Amino acid sequence: MKRMLLTLLLTPLFAAAAFAHDPRIEAKVDDLLARMNLAEKVGQLNQLNGGYATGTQDGRRIDLEESVRSGIIGSFLNIVDLDYQKSLQKIAVEESRLGIPLLYAHDVIHGYRTIFPIPLAEAASWDLEAIERSARIAAIEASASGLHWTFAPMVDIARDPRWGRVMEGAGEDTYLGSRIAEARVHGFQGDDLSRSDTIIACAKHFAGYGAAEGGRDYNTVDVSERVMREVYLPPFHAAVNAGVATLMNAFNVLDRMPASGNKFLVKQVLKGEWNFQGFVVSDWNSFGEMVIHGVAEDNREAAKLAIAAGSDMDMESKAYFDYLGELVSKGEIPEEWVDDAVRRVLRVKYELGMFDDPYKYIDPARKEKVTLSDEHLQAAREVARESIVLLKNEGGLLPLKKNIEKIAVIGQLADSKKFEDMMGSWPAQGKNEEVVTPLEGVKAKVSTQTVVTYEPGCRDHGVCPPELIDRAALAAAEADCVILVVGENGDMSGESKSRAHIGLPGDQLDLVKAVVKAGKPVVMVLMTGRPLVLDWCAEHVPAIVNAWQLGTMGGHAIADVLFGDYNPSGKLPISFPAAVGQIPVYYNHLNTGRPRPPQDVPYVSKYIDCPNEPLYPFGYGLSYTTYEYSAPRLNAETININHTLTVSVDVKNTGSVMGDEVVQLYIRDLVGSVAQPVKELRGFDKIHLNPGESKTVEFTLDSGDLAFWTEDMKFQPEPGEFEVFVGTSSSDCKKARFTLE
Ligand code: NOJ
Repeated sequence: MKRMLLTLLLTPLFAAAAFAHDPRIEAKVDDLLARMNLAEKVGQLNQLNGGYATGTQDGRRIDLEESVRSGIIGSFLNIVDLDYQKSLQKIAVEESRLGIPLLYAHDVIHGYRTIFPIPLAEAASWDLEAIERSARIAAIEASASGLHWTFAPMVDIARDPRWGRVMEGAGEDTYLGSRIAEARVHGFQGDDLSRSDTIIACAKHFAGYGAAEGGRDYNTVDVSERVMREVYLPPFHAAVNAGVATLMNAFNVLDRMPASGNKFLVKQVLKGEWNFQGFVVSDWNSFGEMVIHGVAEDNREAAKLAIAAGSDMDMESKAYFDYLGELVSKGEIPEEWVDDAVRRVLRVKYELGMFDDPYKYIDPARKEKVTLSDEHLQAAREVARESIVLLKNEGGLLPLKKNIEKIAVIGQLADSKKFEDMMGSWPAQGKNEEVVTPLEGVKAKVSTQTVVTYEPGCRDHGVCPPELIDRAALAAAEADCVILVVGENGDMSGESKSRAHIGLPGDQLDLVKAVVKAGKPVVMVLMTGRPLVLDWCAEHVPAIVNAWQLGTMGGHAIADVLFGDYNPSGKLPISFPAAVGQIPVYYNHLNTGRPRPPQDVPYVSKYIDCPNEPLYPFGYGLSYTTYEYSAPRLNAETININHTLTVSVDVKNTGSVMGDEVVQLYIRDLVGSVAQPVKELRGFDKIHLNPGESKTVEFTLDSGDLAFWTEDMKFQPEPGEFEVFVGTSSSDCKKARFTLE
């Protein structure tokens, strides 16, 4: 039965952006803008690469110093050398006509020099404070190295682990992704952009990039407006409401129009409905790629499409550089469009305090003091161990005792200081030689009597010659226990690193089989930038620890968990498929008209050769202790749209060690004007419990938590029956029911 829609339109999606007008800054922007000529205006919208390339290059040589002097460049990316930054900045402020400072940008994705876990790993901590602290520290180090702007956070929801960039986001869930987006924006930007240790953030890639067909990077995206608004856009909106200063266009098309020229995305939703006051930068040559997409004849037309859509700054395509002025002078676009874009860029430069002191970020003494400080390294170790997810622990094999007589550590990844193996993609200025490997972590942890042997078993990228496997198997046989570190090298995930086969790369499964055959207790430590298909391992290896790529302090964090100095508390932010053929597999799917019942029957939605469920679902992660959940209690069985619902649950630590548990709350709207997911995360809380201790966790749901994009595309809740689930993972919950009147 179709239900009556509530008339109230919910406000949060249309609230004013937090990056708001400051009248004093607006007056300064207006004054400066009035003094700029057209070339100088266009100049503020040009961003060029001044360091190593993080995209394709057209080989064209531009005299950077001369261009800065003439005021036709507003920003650089990838210049990290303080002296070079200073010399170009000096030309900009002292030798250009209006002295407008340059904005320096860089991909500071998970740390600058102290490298934190990859963002997907950090999301597994479900610890918003720790995630914010990680971004804060990245900003402290980056700002001391002359940078004003990071191209982070990536807030793309990703349901396809073949996509190499899953490592860079917060996983498959919109609610978790939105909370993490806010935390990261706060971390980078702090409360006051004019401080010299805060940098502007950039929510990217706007939008839908994570939905690339087949998980192949840069590929076509084709999702409905409803799915866009419900799944992919909310983390961007959360970032905007958290005050993010910039957004970056995505590379993909949406509804056949590349995101950089997509009026619906930029003009209508971002700048219209969300009232975003910051600016939008293209991705690397994404304006130019509109020609290759086939929607513009040449860069001139691409520039026209981009400015018409509301994209403000051009990274590296040079389409604005070459044609924007001409388009205005020939009357093909109104100058007001350019003025609006320039106003947004200047606003940010004033907010950063760059006109007061353009050199304040270029501070060698501060750089020396803060970079890789003990405090930063300690924070990196803490968030790294919180990011680890215990996937399997048969017979309580873990934690290991520190005084085992002989431990064999096996695997190329156990002691690798290359390919960013410990750091993962986007290591910014992190250095391989500064990382702590798992082998080093284990050696630093065990008793002085313990003998630790090491065999790589394989070469890089899973090339495992038989003689290396034999030596590894022998070392396993001679030890009391084996720590086997396998997975992806650091250069196997990230941008343009899609994989069609997402099992253990190369011959590593042969190594695992040989080591398990040696008959000793085996703990498998997985290092990876994405969920992998672990079929044989999941069945035959007694303990599996998913350690992702944990950054500079990864080896210590892994040892902390393996030897029980930290009780693992991470929960998967993305499902681990049972087989590649299930992808996309995610917890908040629709029910279909023929959901599979527990018994095996034909003509239902299922595979005949594989379960429907992933191997390890969203929200899953084990601990060295056990928790007991009460049934959820509700303060009312019926609420109306003005009421809130309180859901409480008692959680008890029933084991013998203390632990941190992520208590998760999901809802289901049983009948809607359009089909609703079988479960959707709407709250979580990470609590600490001593052995025997019990705590009551309380969640409050309001009508916004129950809303969705209805049949006629209004974001609102509909009256009817709901289920609420509370538990330890998306697949292990207790439920209750309530009615919305
Ligand atoms: C391309 C990537 O898609 C984007 O995320 C990154 O910020 C730019 N290159 C700059 O390196």
